[in-house]
Amino acid sequence: MRKVVAGNWKMHHGPRAAADFLARFRPETDPESVRLIFFVAGLSLQAVKANARVPVGLGVQNIHWEPSGALTGEISAEMAAEAGASYALVGHSERRHVFGETDAEVGRKVGAAVRAGLVPVVCVGEQLEERRAGRLDAVLRRQVSAFIPGLRGCGEFMVAYEPVWAIGTGETATPQDASEAHGILREALGELGRAPILYGGSVQPGNAAALMSVPGVDGVLVGGASLDPEVFARIAAAGRSPG
Ligand code: PGA
Repeated sequence: MRKVVAGNWKMHHGPRAAADFLARFRPETDPESVRLIFFVAGLSLQAVKANARVPVGLGVQNIHWEPSGALTGEISAEMAAEAGASYALVGHSERRHVFGETDAEVGRKVGAAVRAGLVPVVCVGEQLEERRAGRLDAVLRRQVSAFIPGLRGCGEFMVAYEPVWAIGTGETATPQDASEAHGILREALGELGRAPILYGGSVQPGNAAALMSVPGVDGVLVGGASLDPEVFARIAAAGRSPG
């Protein structure tokens, strides 16, 4: 399977910076060997689409579960699809822990993404206290069982394992940590466990190849290091299949 190398720009890169990024983004890898996806601000979707020189998948970072309504400030999965997105991040740690998104809401958003024809990339991961208390397994299983019903009718989806303590901290899970968590997730997903499972949390050019060589790690979701085109191109190259 081609490795997935996905960038999550978070609240960075408006349309001008997005166009500039794409003009400078020249990964030394071809789309046959790596699947590139950018999760960008909705306002920057068009700029990425118009300026990409290599095939890239386009995604939004959040959606609401309703298709439309009196919900000031929200965007629906249908709107994201119409604006050019094919993917939606759902349940990113910042959505869960900064904006208080619950497991149930994550499940509804997954359902909305599926109905709109977007590929949901569902983020899960434990907080440091949960890991220390030996609750890794229980937390991941709880998060997975909350979104499985939303996948009904789904053609394709992905999961991103992002330990909360590794996001934006410079602290990365070891290949062993990633292997353990990905194993739990595959088991919890049951018959859906063949979906790609990405690792995220302080991925850098220096650790990307090691993480992607772990069996069961199908790619990476990159925050901070996806903001610079040269740095992100190096991570993309690390996902190239050998040979
Ligand atoms: P980071 O973020 O790579 O900056 O740790 C990852 C993410 O939040 O998806």
